[in-house]
Amino acid sequence: MAFPEQRPRRLRRTPALRRLVSQTSLSVNDLVAPLFVKEGITAAEPVISMPGVSQHTIVSLRAETRALVALGVPAIMLFGVPQHKDALGTSADDPNGIVQLAIRALKDDHGDDLVVMVDNCLDEYTDHGHCGILTPAGAVDNDATLDRYASIAIAQAQAGADVVAPSGMMDGQVGAIRAALDAVGATDTTILAYAAKYASALYGPFRDAAECAPKFGDRKSYQMDPANAREAIDEVALDLNEGADMVMVKPALAYLDIIATLRNEFSAPLAAYHVSGEYAMVQAGAQLGWIDGDAVAMEHMLAIKRAGADIVITYFARRVAELLQ
Ligand code: PBG
Repeated sequence: MAFPEQRPRRLRRTPALRRLVSQTSLSVNDLVAPLFVKEGITAAEPVISMPGVSQHTIVSLRAETRALVALGVPAIMLFGVPQHKDALGTSADDPNGIVQLAIRALKDDHGDDLVVMVDNCLDEYTDHGHCGILTPAGAVDNDATLDRYASIAIAQAQAGADVVAPSGMMDGQVGAIRAALDAVGATDTTILAYAAKYASALYGPFRDAAECAPKFGDRKSYQMDPANAREAIDEVALDLNEGADMVMVKPALAYLDIIATLRNEFSAPLAAYHVSGEYAMVQAGAQLGWIDGDAVAMEHMLAIKRAGADIVITYFARRVAELLQ
């Protein structure tokens, strides 16, 4: 080799040396904690397939968020679980819907010290569990759905959300939401686009937590095919052109190549969602005593950062923040 005198192990000898030459860093500032808030319950309910994660009441949501803020976590992502579901998902844009109440409570508690992000989608709110409105034939109607997303975004912004995060993968959703927000004067409300969201089998536990599994069919006609990498570049370009402020890849670990590619192609803040199935696998392995859960979680976070993500959305946010103290 060219440099036979070099001995890389010299730089690995002590913890301080290793810190000095570390090429990737993980900070509490990178983390977003996803949180579920459910209407009509009187105490938090644990999600069986996601140990450590609960469906919250507004009261327990406030307590959990207070703990996250105390640990320095800058942002949370809210998902609502309504009592009433119907074909149009009307609870989603109800000004007194569960998510809107939660946003108001958290903004009351923390003001600008916390970035409140909120999922903008319909699957938690529709009785059929799809992310959009259905045609009589049962297909997801793209353009009719855009009107619903726009109305939901307005309700979320008016409740005080800092960031609206459309996750439905309808064509034109970012443009429709941006136009709607601007039209009501919510020009500062930020859009985090789930730009490259794949039709993944890793969302299973989330569908328990959010009670949103589709009643028939699957999401492959709107979420991306896991076989496609170049298409992610097109999806991100479209979303940025439509007004997205930040973009996301989801899931994270099986898609690190996508994260790395997008990092090279675009300069916008890039988020990666370490999803429910990724979390559940680590927790399950740790519960069996087969892996060290904390160590694997930290390695996952670091790998996502190393691939090029700026922001990691993860159910491990609280634990990782504790480990980073
Ligand atoms: C859709 C949505 C999903 C997730 C986030 N937003 C579920 C889906 O697309 O089926 C999954 C997140 C996770 O698995 O942690 N509103």
